[in-house]
Amino acid sequence: MSKINHLFENNKKWAEQIKAEQPNFFTQLSKQQNPEYLWIGCSDSRVPANELLGMAPGEVFVHRNIANQVIHTDLNCLSVIHFAVEILKVKHIIICGHYGCGGIGAALDGKQHGLIDHWLRHIKDIYRFHQQKLDAITDLQERSNLLCELNVMEQVAHICDASMIHKAWQQGQELSIHGLVYKLHDGILKDLNVSVSGIDNF
Ligand code: CO
Repeated sequence: MSKINHLFENNKKWAEQIKAEQPNFFTQLSKQQNPEYLWIGCSDSRVPANELLGMAPGEVFVHRNIANQVIHTDLNCLSVIHFAVEILKVKHIIICGHYGCGGIGAALDGKQHGLIDHWLRHIKDIYRFHQQKLDAITDLQERSNLLCELNVMEQVAHICDASMIHKAWQQGQELSIHGLVYKLHDGILKDLNVSVSGIDNF
């Protein structure tokens, strides 16, 4: 017997429950998706995009990677942004970090972690940009929390720099970029108030 049989059972129950509430849910959704939001978050299993936003399938387009990064040369993430902005015409892009992020912690701990160190290199760069401010915080948890926030702000700036975002704004497309941090201990999102809605306020 497969060790993941319970997943198929869970899936069947989930689909049946939705169909009981909305009989046409899947047939309608299979025809098209029309999400207003692109979520770029951490891969951490405790930060599930749809669930914490209270959103059903079809409502949020999602990209996740370790430490919610938007790297200028990451074809995967850039393709997601491109598709979300140019084809789906999402109105909001949400970059969401989370306190207690293992990726941020690993970038700060000074240890070797193997392959992932290359990915975390970008976080270490952000640490270097703000080293004086970060090193002034003696509590390691608080230092890590601030780097979580600074990382989100940096990724908001990276998105604003992307060519397809400039193009969308130049064409008058309604599109805002937001930076949030999720609190694992209470499930609440914090707005970092760094939203950008056009080239003028970037
Ligand atoms: Co994380």
